[in-house]
Amino acid sequence: MDDFHLPQVKELGASYNYGRGQPHAEQVGKLAVQIACTFRDEGICPVSADDVRVLEAAGWLHDTGKFPAVLEKYRAEAASSGIEWEDDGHNLLSFLMVKHELNPLLKARNLPPVPEEDEAALLYCILWHNGSKYPVLPETPGDWLPRCRRLAAIFRVADALDRGLVQKVASISVEPFTNEITGNSELGFTIGYHRAAGGRPSSLGKAFGLSTQPSRISLEIERALEKSDLMLKAFGLAAIHFKRTYIAD
Ligand SMILES: [Fe+2]
Repeated sequence: MDDFHLPQVKELGASYNYGRGQPHAEQVGKLAVQIACTFRDEGICPVSADDVRVLEAAGWLHDTGKFPAVLEKYRAEAASSGIEWEDDGHNLLSFLMVKHELNPLLKARNLPPVPEEDEAALLYCILWHNGSKYPVLPETPGDWLPRCRRLAAIFRVADALDRGLVQKVASISVEPFTNEITGNSELGFTIGYHRAAGGRPSSLGKAFGLSTQPSRISLEIERALEKSDLMLKAFGLAAIHFKRTYIAD
């Protein structure tokens, strides 16, 4: 694929305020790309330029289902889709919006559609970023699924690392290792963070029903641990560990 049309992807996300605003969308895409690049550098999995673009696109689009107009447009289809969903179902709403609106937007700009295999990977990143159900769509060819799973697993952890919507995480490194006792493959993440980050404007915090207190990095890490379930399966790991390291501002 030569071009994922990221400017148009971003335009689509912006038309719904990225669901939860640009800073979160940008941070999640950035963290997902960082994780993917460290996985590649550590030999955990190959990562192509197209994979990187899929993750960045998922950042811009994954939370659009939080936007009221998206809920209005796709609520009925979500309810009758047969796809299991939890909580507010914003992952399914974002998924439906992208499925219906991304290629028509590209067509309106006289651009070719996103290649189907990349579109599938993007849609799985969006659908599996939230909740604990991982529905497999019958139309997805089986040989596309391992890549979809790997990218969605990476994206899911990246989203968790901005749980507080305050862009507290500044760097991520990853170390694969073998547990000396069990012989199992495990992974250790080191999360670099700025202690001062997290001064969320109170109106924004209130709008999302969150505490207006600065986020504690332990909350981000707790959430990333919870949402690393898919990564365990996708990469055949026995355990994933997170430690944090403070970066001076
Ligand atoms: Fe998100």
